[in-house]
Amino acid sequence: MDTPREIMDAAWDALERGYTKYAPAAGYPELRNALAKKLRDYNQIDLDPETQILITQGSTEALYLAVNALLDPGEEAIIPAPYYPPYDSLIKASGATPRYVGATEDEGWLPAPEAIEKAVNKRTRALLINTPNNPTGTVYPRKYLEDIGRTAVDHDLPILSDEAYEALVFDGAEHVSPMSIPSMRDNAIGLFSFSKTFAMTGEARLPLWPRGIHQESRHHPQPRAGPRQFSHPDRRPAGPPRVGQVFRPDRPRTGRKKKNPCG
Ligand SMILES: Cc1ncc(COP(=O)(O)O)c(C=O)c1O
Repeated sequence: MDTPREIMDAAWDALERGYTKYAPAAGYPELRNALAKKLRDYNQIDLDPETQILITQGSTEALYLAVNALLDPGEEAIIPAPYYPPYDSLIKASGATPRYVGATEDEGWLPAPEAIEKAVNKRTRALLINTPNNPTGTVYPRKYLEDIGRTAVDHDLPILSDEAYEALVFDGAEHVSPMSIPSMRDNAIGLFSFSKTFAMTGEARLPLWPRGIHQESRHHPQPRAGPRQFSHPDRRPAGPPRVGQVFRPDRPRTGRKKKNPCG
């Protein structure tokens, strides 16, 4: 599926209007405001766009920031399996260890909440879930989220909730975001993406954990957009923005409608 025409037109229009410079580290306020409205209307999540929403380059960068903010070497993250394969290297690259809790097809690919509770130990620092799930397609029911959420809340664990496929639900299934469940709200960090919803791989937004994403991290003491500044080129989780790579310096520039804002 191609990116919808109006999105491509808006991207081109933005370039013409001079959106070619550094953007604010947390993202443009207009976009954060629009996402706050979307989260309220569509996901039943109430967030302050000033302090609780961070724009990232794909949910890949959001995952990278959240994992590196929350996990230190020697710590563990619990992940229901089967899982999206990059989680493994993401967790290991932070020096932490993924602890998988498996489920079978007969279980609807949902690990028993008791098995998740049993996997918690004194090194556990996060629960990483993915609904709707890649690769199984399972959409976590509200009751199941509440059950595993109890474990997270009881052990004071952040829940990283990868919701990249929120719009791809079929047969009457309802996508529920942990951030919309009152008992889980304070522990959940929702990771959303434009990639699948709008066929725009590489653009995403990350609503932050209401308590501040890396309050407990010893590595990154600044709140909110802070960890972004530590994304040095050699540790970037994703490639450079695609629009910037469309430009071909080896080709002559031909008749454009408006003057290039770069002069
Ligand atoms: C479960 C899951 N999370 C995250 C991503 C990455 O999304 P993004 O393009 O927003 O970085 C993918 C991409 O396939 C995915 O399947």
